[in-house]
Amino acid sequence: MRWPPPISHRRRPFLLLVLLVALYSIPGAFSLRHVTLNTVEIFTTHEWFGKPTVYFRCNGENKTNLPDVKEAHMLYAFKGEESWQPLAELPEKKCKRCGLYEEDAFKPADVFDEWEMCSSDFKDGKYTRFKENQFNATFLCPNCTASAGDHGNGEHSSEVETNKASVPVIIVVSVLASVLVIIALFGGYKYWQKKKRERDHARFLKLFEEGDDLEDELGLSNEF
Ligand SMILES: *[C@@H]1O[C@H](CO)[C@@H](O)[C@H](O)[C@H]1NC(C)=O
Ligand SMILES: *[C@@H]1O[C@H](CO)[C@@H](O)[C@H](O)[C@H]1NC(C)=O
Ligand SMILES: *[C@@H]1O[C@H](CO)[C@@H](O)[C@H](O)[C@H]1NC(C)=O
Repeated sequence: MRWPPPISHRRRPFLLLVLLVALYSIPGAFSLRHVTLNTVEIFTTHEWFGKPTVYFRCNGENKTNLPDVKEAHMLYAFKGEESWQPLAELPEKKCKRCGLYEEDAFKPADVFDEWEMCSSDFKDGKYTRFKENQFNATFLCPNCTASAGDHGNGEHSSEVETNKASVPVIIVVSVLASVLVIIALFGGYKYWQKKKRERDHARFLKLFEEGDDLEDELGLSNEF
């Protein structure tokens, strides 16, 4: 009997899903998405005289001064291990509003740019932010794409979709299987009935023949 389907068949996609969720969520939950500054080049300084004080800050967090960045039109490259690194830590599914600013002695800071920094923006762990006449910077975040990037999530959701898709398939197959079983049982019953009828008929004919034999005997006895 195929109905109900064996437990192991119904459990298998579920166990697979649990395994996948575990595989994807363990590195996602425990990896640190630290963002470091890789390169930066500023195209302007907002001060008329003296060296600029450039800093990076995410909304509600502390400033990070970039002590080396003093000249415009000069490319600064960093190793990611400097005393002021990393610049920020990103949550898995939420962006942070961050910006690059220049300290100003007399008025609020000058803004190079402010933007939403998101884990999903990092391609192969790298993200470039360019603003015309202001700056060009590249940021690194190896764990942003490695564990919680679009790739992992995409596979995960497609896995969920295939599981969803297989539910109707399982239902259809089960219904078909049970219909086949019913047809087979009905056919078997009909066959048994037919056989029984034939057997009864044969027995009846045999009785008849025996009757004939008796009649023959009687007939013979009448003739003589
Ligand atoms: C990435 O995550 C691992 C833990 O899973 C951590 O040890 C490592 O420091 C993180 N790297 C960065 C650059 O955040
Ligand atoms: C911000 O700076 C203050 C004072 O230096 C420090 O106590 C605090 O831990 C810092 N916060 C973060 C998120 O680094
Ligand atoms: C920004 O800087 C990166 C790294 O130096 C470079 O590859 C890229 O071409 C620059 N982009 C622009 C628009 O200048």
